[in-house]
Formats: sequence, structure tokens, C-alpha cells
Amino acid sequence: MPDSRPRRTFAVISHPDAGKSTLTEALALHARAINEAGAVHGKGDRRGTVSDWMAMEKARGISITSAALQFAYRDHVVNLVDTPGHSDFSEDTYRVLSAVDSAVMLVDAGKGLEPQTLKLFQVCALRGIPVITVINKWDRPGLSALELMDLIHEKIGLRPTPLTWPVGEAGDFRGVLDRRTGEFVKYTRTAGGATRAPERRIGPGEVEEPDAQAWAAAVEEHELLELDGADHDQRRFLAGATTPVMFASALQNFGVAQLLDLLLDLAPAPGATTGVDGAVRQVTDDFSAFVFKVQSGMNAAHRDRLAYARVVSGSFERGMVVTHAATGRPFATKFAQAVFGRETTSVETAEAGDIIGLVNANALRVGDTVYVGPSIEYPPVPTFAPEHFMTASAGDIGRYKQFRRGIEQLDQEGVVQVLRSDLRGDQNPVLAAVGPMQFEVVEDRMTNEFNAPIRFSRLDYQVARRTDAGGAAALAGIRGVEVLQRSDGTHLALFVDQWRAKTTARDHPDVMLEALPAGGS
Ligand code: G4P
Repeated sequence: MPDSRPRRTFAVISHPDAGKSTLTEALALHARAINEAGAVHGKGDRRGTVSDWMAMEKARGISITSAALQFAYRDHVVNLVDTPGHSDFSEDTYRVLSAVDSAVMLVDAGKGLEPQTLKLFQVCALRGIPVITVINKWDRPGLSALELMDLIHEKIGLRPTPLTWPVGEAGDFRGVLDRRTGEFVKYTRTAGGATRAPERRIGPGEVEEPDAQAWAAAVEEHELLELDGADHDQRRFLAGATTPVMFASALQNFGVAQLLDLLLDLAPAPGATTGVDGAVRQVTDDFSAFVFKVQSGMNAAHRDRLAYARVVSGSFERGMVVTHAATGRPFATKFAQAVFGRETTSVETAEAGDIIGLVNANALRVGDTVYVGPSIEYPPVPTFAPEHFMTASAGDIGRYKQFRRGIEQLDQEGVVQVLRSDLRGDQNPVLAAVGPMQFEVVEDRMTNEFNAPIRFSRLDYQVARRTDAGGAAALAGIRGVEVLQRSDGTHLALFVDQWRAKTTARDHPDVMLEALPAGGS
């Protein structure tokens, strides 16, 4: 039976340490998906499932891999898609954000808008995803609420439209003024925030000591915001001009229920999607989905390949035979999983907005479409401009076959871009990355997963432009320029620096030299 409950599919974007893991736990706790905080992400000495499955990730305390957490709330189903935690993975982030309908931007009240938050926000803006802002850690001293609003406006250009306003300054979190009802939502602290924090709604005229003074200050600022026109406007929010703001303490579970309500009430539901040929798929049409992430090595014992797909339209049922748009071949979905951290459960059915993990998906690549019924193919996920280049060679020549297989696999997963040219031959492909940490992932996985040690040698290029076969011929032999072909067929001209890219473009006006979206740091 298809599950007809409405969906909300979103991701949390934040700078490391802003409280994403804590918020994720708190959301799941509120939704009663798990009974004890700490069971979703394992960090520090928190035990439980771990989304960071690579040893390297654990050491760094960041999450490179992504999956989705699903839970029911009110009469809805909420999908929280995990985003990679490092800016080097902006390409990866972009792919993940192609699978969500909205994003929650989590800001540390003490730190304001940090570089990673800004970067991730830019990715959201590029994708046109509406953004809800949560000011976290209000239980700790930090910037003033008005200061934070100014920062948001200045740094990201979105008009902040607070839905709640804090009662008590940062470090003295008593509750919030619900700007829609005018009520005081008073919080009560609980030990460690381990259970649902109690909230009491108090009418505007009934606020008593010891909160009266903090309340009066909140009311005054709320009126200022009103005069300034900083009120929520659903149309402008969906158009990406404004961001609703709320104040929270993920650690104390303050504001978490409000965030869930806000997601249900304001965040967009899955909508119609247009394919490359202009055909539009409504969510109620036949099943279709697109792959936004491919991952292997979850289980070292057997090299299983998992393709995460977002259901775009229709209902998915396990066992369905779907068509793989890229090859036209059938793909049997005998096994499908929901994955979050190390928890996997078998998926029997899924609806538009849900994330499914397709097992044994060796033919599926990032950006691929699968469907039933009339054919549809969704636009490919764009690649970002690589800014770091290395030639790779097998560290142990006796393991060249494994080396080759490993490179191919990592290429298909989109871990790095793999470039080749006739001149360089096939033995030493050039690996191109948006951020240098991608090479660490390659090294780690080649060594541990493919048992094929890899040697890198740095190439002195910094800039890549898209060109074509004509460009490759025209630019051959020019110093400081090299044209290579990516495994998807795209020709990339690499330049030692911006200046060389500029002068080459000037000297060869007939050669196609197109900038790629910037994603690097
Ligand atoms: P991340 O996933 O965004 O990297 O952040 P994470 O949730 O791990 O939180 C980073 C630190 O901030 C943690 O402290 C966490 O307890 C704390 N934190 C998160 N939300 C809040 C909040 O609302 N208020 C306060 N005061 N702290 C918050 P830690 O000491 O690094 O780790 P832990 O030992 O507490 O786990």
C-alpha cells in the first residue's frame, strides 16, 4: 500500500561544531524515532550508531558520507538527508542538496556566520532551495539577536524574518516570543536535555516575574522587527528572498519541536520535476528517481555498491523492475534499504521525497535516472571546477589491476574527477579535485579498500575550463596549458594560473573555454 502521508525532505547545513549532530538527535528524539539521545550519531564518547564509517572520518570528527534519516511527525513523513561536513566536498554537498526540497541553516549564536556555513548556503542559493535559519546554542553567551539578523542580511543577502524571538539574551534562554501568536513559549530545563523539554505557552499579558523584564525587551524588539517589515512572507521565502529564523538550543531541546512544526507548515513539499527533454513528471505520476550518491565499502566483507536515490515521482515498491535511463536496461530492485549511520532497514515502499538505497547497483552512477512507465531522464548534477590536480600511479606495480579497478570505482562514485589524455597514457591518470581533502579519501580507500597503494605527484595547475575536441587540438603544445578528457567525455583545459587562462582565451578567441561552477575554497 502506498503511504500517502505528505513528505518533507530537507538537509541541515552548518559549520562543524554548530550542533548539527545534536540537532539531528534532538529532531529524531522529538519524533520519537529513537528513544535515547545519542543513538543517531556517535561523536566523542557518545555511543551508538555512527554515521562516520571511515576511520579517517572518525579521527577528524567529520562526516563525509551521507544518508538519510526518516521519521514520522504529526501526519507527515520527514526525511533528513545528511550533508558532508567539509567544504572540500562541495561537489558532494551539491549532489546531496539536489535531493532535498529545503535546507535548515544552523548558526552558532556565539560565532555568527562561519565560512563553511556561507559556502554551503551558496550551494543552496545555486540550487534555489529555500533556507530556514536556526540560531543554535542560545543557552550560551553569544552575539545579540539583532546583531545576528544584521549578519545574516549582510553576509548572505537574505532578509531574515524571525518567527520566534528569544526571551532572555544569549546565555539566559528563558523561552521565545512566538511572533505569529504573540505568546511567550517558556522553556523548562531538563537534565542534559535527554527528554523532551517541557514548554508552556503564556498569553502576552500574563508574563510574570522573573521573566517580565526579559519579556518586555523581547516585545520591544519584536515591534521593531514589525516596523522594519521583517515578517514572514511565504511567497518570498519560497522564492529564496527571505529566510524564516528561529532560536534554539539543540542541546537543551529548546525550539526543536518548533522547528519540526515549521518544516511541516512552511517548507515546500516535493513538487513536479522537469526532465532534460522538457517533459514534466508530477509527484503522482509513475515512479521515477534519480541517483544523487553512490557509495561502496559500507561492508568490507563483500564489496557492495549502494546507490542512494531520491524518489521524484510515484511510489516505489521493493522488487519493482525499473528502467535505467542511461542504458535503457532494466534494473531489478530486489533489495532496497534505508540507511542512516550504520542502521540499515529494508525498504518495502517509498514515495516521492523519500531516499532509497539501492543495493547491488553496480550499473548506476551519480546523476542517473531510473523510472517506470514513460521514459524520463533528469538533468545531470553539474560538476564543479577542480582546482587541485595530481597524477596517480600504482604504488605497487604488481597490483596495477586493483589500482585500475579502484580508480574506476572512485571515479564512478564521484570521489574525484579522473582525467586522461593520449599523451599521458592510461597508466597515470590525472585526478582532479575541488578540495585537497578528496585526495586523502582516495588514498585511504585505495589502500584499505582496494589494497592498491597509490602514489600522487602534484601537477602545477590551478584553473580548469571546459573546452571541446577543437580546443584540445588548438591548445596542444602551448606552455602552461594542457587539455585532458574527463571520463564523462568532457574536455578540460588546465592552466597554471588565472592569468594564463585569461591570456589563452584572449589569444584564441575561437576556442571554447567555458568556466565551470566554482566550488572550491
Ligand atoms: P556538529 O555535528 O555540527 O559538528 O556539532 P555537534 O552536534 O557535535 O556539537 C558540537 C558541540 O556543541 C558539542 O559539544 C555539543 O554538545 C555542543 N552543542 C550543540 N548544540 C548545543 C547547544 O544548543 N548548546 C550548547 N551549549 N552546546 C551545544 P562538545 O563538547 O564538542 O561535544 P560533547 O562532548 O558535548 O558531545
